Amino acid sequence: MSIKVTNKNKRFVLNTKNTTYAFEVFKGHYLIHNYYGRTKQRFQGVKPRSLSFGAYEAQYGKRYSPDAHSMEISFYGSGDFRDTSLRICGKDGTGVTDFRYKSFRIFEGRHKIDGLPCARPDADSETLEIHLRDKLSGCDLYLYYTVFPESDVISRHMVIENNGKHTVRIDRCRPIELCLERGDLDMITLWGAWNNESNYQRVPLHHGVQSVGSRRGASSHQYNPFMAICEHSATEEKGEAYGFNFVYSGSFQNSVELDGKNRTKVQMGLCPDDFAYTLEVGERFESPEAVMTYSPSGLGQMTRNFHNFVRKNIMPAVSHKPHPVVLNTWEACYFNIDEQKLLQFAKKGAEMGFDMLVMDDGWFGERHNDKAGLGDWYENREKFPNGLAAFVREVKKQGIQFGIWVEPEMVNPNSELYRAHPDWALHVAGREPLLSRNQLVLDMSRDDVIEYLMNIFDKTFDGVDLDYFKWDMNRHLSNVGSALLPPERQGEVSFRHIKGVYRLLDWFTKRFPNAVIETCSGGGGRYDLGMMQYGIQIWTSDNTNPYRRTMIQSGAITAYPALTMSCHVSNPKEDMRSLDYRYKVALEGMLGYELNILEMSDEINAEISRQIAEYRTLEHVMREGDFFRLAAPEKETYSAYYYATPDRSELLLTLVEKKDCKAGTSKPLKLKAAKQDAVYTDVFSGERYTGKELASGLTLSLTGEADSAKLLYLKENQ
Ligand code: DGJ
Repeated sequence: MSIKVTNKNKRFVLNTKNTTYAFEVFKGHYLIHNYYGRTKQRFQGVKPRSLSFGAYEAQYGKRYSPDAHSMEISFYGSGDFRDTSLRICGKDGTGVTDFRYKSFRIFEGRHKIDGLPCARPDADSETLEIHLRDKLSGCDLYLYYTVFPESDVISRHMVIENNGKHTVRIDRCRPIELCLERGDLDMITLWGAWNNESNYQRVPLHHGVQSVGSRRGASSHQYNPFMAICEHSATEEKGEAYGFNFVYSGSFQNSVELDGKNRTKVQMGLCPDDFAYTLEVGERFESPEAVMTYSPSGLGQMTRNFHNFVRKNIMPAVSHKPHPVVLNTWEACYFNIDEQKLLQFAKKGAEMGFDMLVMDDGWFGERHNDKAGLGDWYENREKFPNGLAAFVREVKKQGIQFGIWVEPEMVNPNSELYRAHPDWALHVAGREPLLSRNQLVLDMSRDDVIEYLMNIFDKTFDGVDLDYFKWDMNRHLSNVGSALLPPERQGEVSFRHIKGVYRLLDWFTKRFPNAVIETCSGGGGRYDLGMMQYGIQIWTSDNTNPYRRTMIQSGAITAYPALTMSCHVSNPKEDMRSLDYRYKVALEGMLGYELNILEMSDEINAEISRQIAEYRTLEHVMREGDFFRLAAPEKETYSAYYYATPDRSELLLTLVEKKDCKAGTSKPLKLKAAKQDAVYTDVFSGERYTGKELASGLTLSLTGEADSAKLLYLKENQ
């Protein structure tokens, strides 16, 4: 049993394989956090405490004040003066609520969230439901905690029901609140921009609130929803670390407050700037899910906990099969595609050993550049005179699978769709909507828009033998207004919009069960746990420069496993050394290519074929293996890491020199996951190493020359 109730039903103890999370009901009403850390049996109960200027209830006296305690969840205006997780505005207009404990329930499995993706439970997952009630507003609050024992992850989300007599509005909703009675911690986040996502940032907490988030209607290139808190001294292998993430692809806000008493409060939830949700009497709201993990043994274990969880509980089963090695047309052709050219790509691609040709942007409507066509999802007959189905049949005859690019959430003003339905784009009545990449965002909160999209894709792709969709999204949401919702519900548009996106994604997976999805948002603009439930991988970044990629991938791998990361080799400009470097950088994730094989030399194409064949022998190590970082490119002039298969019989070590790397030797690269008593042989060089030698460290030479990378594929001798 992973959830226990002790102390005469007053303390809830949630156990994963290696961690414990506990909180208790204090004074019969308040939920107070006890502990989150390595497995533990005994806890210090909550001791009454006072804090000057604390606000307290007369009946309990000043020794109980929410501000003085580690609240399990805090409510605006009810005595916790730090950032609070829930603000609900009722008839009195104050936003003050005071939810009090009523009851609990423990059940097997999990509570599924209405219209939102959420983690699949393990066979032994259990869920704790805590019921609280705010008497004055008549609202009921249900907190859900689901335990994922194997990966040491616990998730939280909440449901709010208006069972009162008046309408209420939820103004703030953060499913994770974690109070730690210490402040000597660092915060790790991933920041970036288009073409430069997932930069790893680690900074000491300062007093006050530090926060990252998105008010862009997408999780964004700018700040990823992943966040971690760790001890100042924590390394990959040592020290305490807490990781957090949000199973949601829209606007979010993560905040960490270090208060005047050197206590830390972590919160994760919806972005309040972009969210206000009205609940009429009898209505309910279900929040997205947020997840957390704890590692007593460094950041590396935190990363591996999340990798295990994402692979097992988030990614679809199909993502565990080998991912196709794709040849994508974007960097090779941009919009300049047609049937003849693509058939040449298909023929040559099949000969070279590619699994799949992916036709990127430019195949539909009047889509000759980015100024027109989005929304008109039928093939352009000048480019495909025989129709899509016949074209794809021809592609398949060459012996290669076929994937197609779509961007369903978008519309160009210059399109038939927009001319027919201008009100289907997000807009604010009376204001000119802002363009971005010459496009507007469809109002996915509307059922008629979703149904239109289902119908048109259903018709266009009917009888077309598709194996893969690249699902793109190339602008953020501005002028967020819906023509269908009344003024008092406009604050819901962003949230309803993303639910519409999920609905359409879900429909695609059911309508085209033989096709897999790669999601993308101008590269890594929606690299999040929400999107990961629908696709086999995510296009990590539009930046395919291997030097930048090394940094981008290093950030992304901190939170997300290799199988989520789509990594393409782009044009090496006839330079074999550059091709080798690009390939080795791409081997951090799932390999693909994005270059014009019709214009490459035979020598380059032959090497690409060799790489593809080699990759097929290695990809299972990245896809299902454990990741160990040895040298972080943010800190060193080279990046070094290895993957180890679960049984540790295979290790794949990569060392990538950055531009400023000097000739010399690396620090000892300790492959501690190697079996101590085994002997391994590097498949590439034939060199033999004992497990002990690998664990005590390999020192590799650094060339200091451009485009240098090394790969060791160590297999246990049988
Ligand atoms: C942005 C994507 O990230 C690119 O890979 C490509 O698909 C373009 N969109 C096409 O418009």
